[in-house]
Amino acid sequence: MWTELKKNIDWVGYADWNVRDFHSYDTRLGATYNAYLIRDEKTALIDTVKAPFAANLLQNIRERTDLAKVDYVVCNHAEMDHSGALPEIMSQLPGATLVCNAKCRDTLAAHFDISSWRIRIISPEDSLNLGTRTLSFVNIPMVHWPESMVTYLPNDAILFSNDAFGQHVATTARFDDQWNIHDILSEAKSYYANIVTPYGRQVLKTLEVVRGLKLEVIAPSHGLIWRKYIPEILSAYQDWASGKYRARVGILYDTMWESTGKMAEAIESGIYDFNGSLAADSAPVDAVRLHVRKSTLTRIATEMLDTPVVALGSSTLNAEMMPQMAAVLTYIKGLKFREKSGLAFGSYGWGPGGPEAIQKWLELVKYPIVADMIKSKYRPTPEVLEQCRQAGRNLAELAMEKAGQ
Ligand code: FEO
Repeated sequence: MWTELKKNIDWVGYADWNVRDFHSYDTRLGATYNAYLIRDEKTALIDTVKAPFAANLLQNIRERTDLAKVDYVVCNHAEMDHSGALPEIMSQLPGATLVCNAKCRDTLAAHFDISSWRIRIISPEDSLNLGTRTLSFVNIPMVHWPESMVTYLPNDAILFSNDAFGQHVATTARFDDQWNIHDILSEAKSYYANIVTPYGRQVLKTLEVVRGLKLEVIAPSHGLIWRKYIPEILSAYQDWASGKYRARVGILYDTMWESTGKMAEAIESGIYDFNGSLAADSAPVDAVRLHVRKSTLTRIATEMLDTPVVALGSSTLNAEMMPQMAAVLTYIKGLKFREKSGLAFGSYGWGPGGPEAIQKWLELVKYPIVADMIKSKYRPTPEVLEQCRQAGRNLAELAMEKAGQ
């Protein structure tokens, strides 16, 4: 299987329809590992695939050229979804030299026996002449590993961007104009939120470089290839990397016997109240209420990316917050989102360990605490529910303010 991007430049990757867990990323739509073959006087393969799919990649290459004719294998990133097939690929391409930066070589050496590989180390000022075309390289450290690099083909105005601008979807379509753009951007947002968020500053630097290139195609290593909606994905990355807020409130909670659940609903009601008080032509504040055991870390992180205000709730279990709530907060902390203003709430029986643990977490991550913790001993009373409802109104107003609406 292959798809032509431009004359003598083909996608030769693998669509992994069945992957459902990608180091905890919920790949509910599958994934692709995109590799590209450039046939010129010299032939270059850009990136490879996960180890189990090496034979598929080799077959795709064979459909376009003799394996012996591949001169270069460019490795933009050493993570195993792009490098796992390298041992098999390098053994099956007798004329190939691996092209990568020094950090990538060192990272590959920590994973594979590379002693028999011909390797050409390139630095950003180097280029690789293929005959009528020349490849150049830009290091993009920490987007999202230290050795990450992109490859640029000025003759055809193609940027092989590796993980940047990718999305986890398995499709037979290859290009952004062959799918619904809102769906692609939604998956690109999920990918960004869950994988790229901690490296926003480096992304902004990368965008400066990318904007200086003549671009007709951005060919990432996952998902659909950008050719029609390049301005849209660059603009979306700019917003995500700069931490642009939307007017929305996130309510994340876990509940044992629905007391904390009732409190979460009351907070949501307060947001409705606030929206009802707005002028008819004002955009309402958006809200998302997620029971963390009935959602996924991937969805939660995606919803959190541009949300400025959060209400975090948990019942008390063994004097602590509920375990999945703790997992969610650990995940959010690691992703280093732009700060969110927070409120802790929750129920308890004989000691309010759940909401107190959340309050401590808010202090730990230095999120501004916007109101006193709301606690409920067993079932929330009407007074407690009104307290939650009032908090919802206040949080909605704050979200609007933070989004500059
Ligand atoms: Fe798609 Fe960072 O690997």
